Order: sequence, then C-alpha cells, then structure tokens
Amino acid sequence: MSQEMDGFKNTSALRKNIAVLVSGNGSNLNALINAVNTGKIVNANIALVISNKKSANALNIARDAKIPTFYVARDLFNSDEEYDLFLLNKLNEYSTDLVLLAGYLRIITPIFLKAFENRILNIHPSLLPDFGGKGMYGMKVHQAVLNSKSVKSGCTVHLVTEKIDGGHILAQSSVSIMPDDSAEILAAKVLEEEHKLYPLAVNNFISTIMLNNNR
Ligand code: GRF
Repeated sequence: MSQEMDGFKNTSALRKNIAVLVSGNGSNLNALINAVNTGKIVNANIALVISNKKSANALNIARDAKIPTFYVARDLFNSDEEYDLFLLNKLNEYSTDLVLLAGYLRIITPIFLKAFENRILNIHPSLLPDFGGKGMYGMKVHQAVLNSKSVKSGCTVHLVTEKIDGGHILAQSSVSIMPDDSAEILAAKVLEEEHKLYPLAVNNFISTIMLNNNR
C-alpha cells in the first residue's frame, strides 16, 4: 500500500505545470492543448493561461478547454516590473514549473526572467538568429524575409533571455519559399510548422531537460 502511494506521489511529482502567456489568436495555444490531450506532450498539464489583451481569441480557446484564464491589463500597474510581479504571484499560485510564450507581445522584465531562469520558452516565426529582435513580430518578420530574397524560412523555439529572440535555440523547422509567395502565404506556411514544432520542443524540453535535472 505504501509502495502504491509512493508510486502515485512520484508520478504526480513528474507532472509539470505549464503557464501559457498570450496576446492574440491562440493557434499555438490550441496546438499545445491538443498535444497535451493526445499525449504528444507527456508529464505536463496546462495549468493557466494569461493574456495582456482582453480581446485575445486565445482566452476563448483556453476557456473552451476549461483552463483557468486571466486577463491582466497593464494599465492597472505603475510599471512593467509591478505587472510582472503580479504575474509571478499568479504563476506561483498555480505552482508553475514552465512558462510558454505563445504570441505574447510583451517584453519579460529581468525580475520575471530571474524567477523562471531557463524555464521560459518562446516560438518565433523565423529561422533565428535571422529576422529576430526588437520590432520583429507578426507580418513584419515575413515581409523582411521576402525582401531578403531568402529561399527558405521557418520557425524557432528558444529559451527566453534578456536579449530579445536571442536565447539558446532548442528547435527549428524550415519551409521553402516559392517565388510568388506573399507575406500572408509565408505566414500561413510557417504557422503550420509552428503547430508541430512547439509541442515537440516542449515535450522534449520537459523530458530531457526538466525531468533529468529534476527542476
Ligand atoms: C506566432 O507566429 C508566433 O510565432 C509568434 O506569434 C504568433 C502567435 O500566433 N510569436 P498565435 O496567437 O499562436 O496564433
């Protein structure tokens, strides 16, 4: 009996609580939820979703999946640090182990980075280190890629550090660019890859890095 109890305790200790931070459409959040539900991401649970935008469709996706959601307006706080401290409290309330940025359009402050050092992941819609950094988000990324006459683009999952889009690269996936691709067509192709890559990279990160380090 006591062995069974221990076994149960160990299994639950392996489960990592994920917080997803969003601002927009939420298609990556949807892919992550599906991956948890279908066992493509194991030993993890999406514990909460936080948005800085009230109208983010990602909030609807999380609500439909019965995941606790929080809309936290920046206006309610005097500084970015105070905002992030509030978020940190929420993350602690839900015993968060890992933070995933999925279209979250805010810069993470140092206090947040320190609290979750090496435990914040982001997905970016280009093959970093190319086409990353300040101001490189959304359609701007894809337009810049097309302007550069590149023949391929893709997406990158990386650790979040103080250098925007500059943290250690965990996984990448590429797509070919056709001569008549528009930025919208390229964005759609890359997004399709993102939905496959992010769950894979998250599962890999949890099983190889977090569980081995017992974090
Ligand atoms: C994705 O292209 C992602 O790479 C970037 O923001 C976009 C979010 O899209 N960081 P969605 O909200 O997941 O649909």
